[in-house]
Amino acid sequence: MNKYYHITTYGCQMNVHESEKIAGILSSLGYQACDDIENADVAVFNTCCIRENAENHAFGNIGMLKKLKARKRDMIIAVGGCLTQQIGKADVLHEKFPFVDVIFGTHNLNKLKEYVLKKQTQKKAVIEILDDDGKVYEECPSLRTSYPNAWVNITYGCNNFCTYCIVPYVRGRERSRRSEDIVNEVRQLIKDGYKEITLLGQNVNSYGNGTQDISFPELLQKIANIEGKFRLRFMTSHPKDFSKELAQVIAANPKICNLVHLPVQSGSDKVLKEMNRKYTSADYLDKVKTLKKYVPNCAITTDLIVGFPNETEEDFQATLNLVNEVGFSSAFSFVYSRREGTVAAKMDGQVSEDVCKRRIMELIALVNSKTREQSATYVGKIIEVLCEDYDVKKGAYCGRDEYGRMAYFKSEKSVLGEFLNVKITAANGISLTGELV
Ligand code: 5AD
Ligand code: SF4
Repeated sequence: MNKYYHITTYGCQMNVHESEKIAGILSSLGYQACDDIENADVAVFNTCCIRENAENHAFGNIGMLKKLKARKRDMIIAVGGCLTQQIGKADVLHEKFPFVDVIFGTHNLNKLKEYVLKKQTQKKAVIEILDDDGKVYEECPSLRTSYPNAWVNITYGCNNFCTYCIVPYVRGRERSRRSEDIVNEVRQLIKDGYKEITLLGQNVNSYGNGTQDISFPELLQKIANIEGKFRLRFMTSHPKDFSKELAQVIAANPKICNLVHLPVQSGSDKVLKEMNRKYTSADYLDKVKTLKKYVPNCAITTDLIVGFPNETEEDFQATLNLVNEVGFSSAFSFVYSRREGTVAAKMDGQVSEDVCKRRIMELIALVNSKTREQSATYVGKIIEVLCEDYDVKKGAYCGRDEYGRMAYFKSEKSVLGEFLNVKITAANGISLTGELV
């Protein structure tokens, strides 16, 4: 009889890729993917805790499985990821949801197979949260779900300790994979027909950090030297480590997309200092200038936070000014979320909900207007997109250009995974519509 698994993923691209590793583990146990959690024999929740709402969302969804589990006693429910790795959270989870069978953290995803097998032989829940042992585990084959795009980890963890951020506490110290392992993985992916590779790390610019023989720009160059037509992307870049060498390697290699995700977080020097970001708004603008000097048409995207403790109207205005000055092609805007255990959680001067709401709406309106302005310049142009999906609702294929802009277009035959020229006929906010040429 067929056995099925279902994975619910919360949070960032890093988690999406980790879910591909979870899928790899479960398929090695003979399970197949299913879309409906009701049919699952193993249901995994791969959680995120970067903001309170991500955590609440996961808690809500897990809670809803109580009835299903009462009907399907043999079903295994497993919860892993960042949420469970927070101190004491695994116990809270176990107490709140005693029907959860397996609880694991960010440092032992590779042991999920063992946990599932163990749970099949015992009644008691299997709970194991390990401390960061500084290791990189290479033995987790992924079952990739995003063809023609593939995600490849290059670093794990983070050493930056931005004062608002929980990541360094739940993902441990920064460690880099060996460059040969990364290059071999990418070479194999290209051989397997993948067309877009995104290198992943909390701060890709500090790849190696004294522990590897090559720097991040050198790693990019090695990967760009692999034969074949493919695109190379990377995220996330911390501005403090963004170098001239990186801009030069982007400029010199057509395979490396002219798009950099460079989170600025705030435009206020006072707030940046309190956030422990280690740069000022002038430093940031300098990095942007360097990037544009070598890669004039480079698109820049960013992350922004409003409502950090003690953020004044003036501080917020500085963020708006910076957004105006840089002209980001798009940006993720967040309301500050207090995370227990971080330095900022102990700061006085939490900004009220009303003020945060007003600021986020104003910021989003500005960011969107910039994105719309840039989208409008596409109309009439021909762009090269990599077709990555078919949108059933729109009845159209979709793909991105190298700047990350999504375009929708019709095609009689399947063009998934193909590079195509599309003439843009309309711009609607962030996305574009066009025709194959
Ligand atoms: N509150 C709001 N946003 C946060 N981020 C990280 N921690 C928090 C927090 N506590 C945002 C940052 C980061 C992105 C991945 O999430 O902008 O760049
Ligand atoms: Fe969090 Fe800062 Fe590390 Fe990014 S660089 S993961 S925001 S601590």
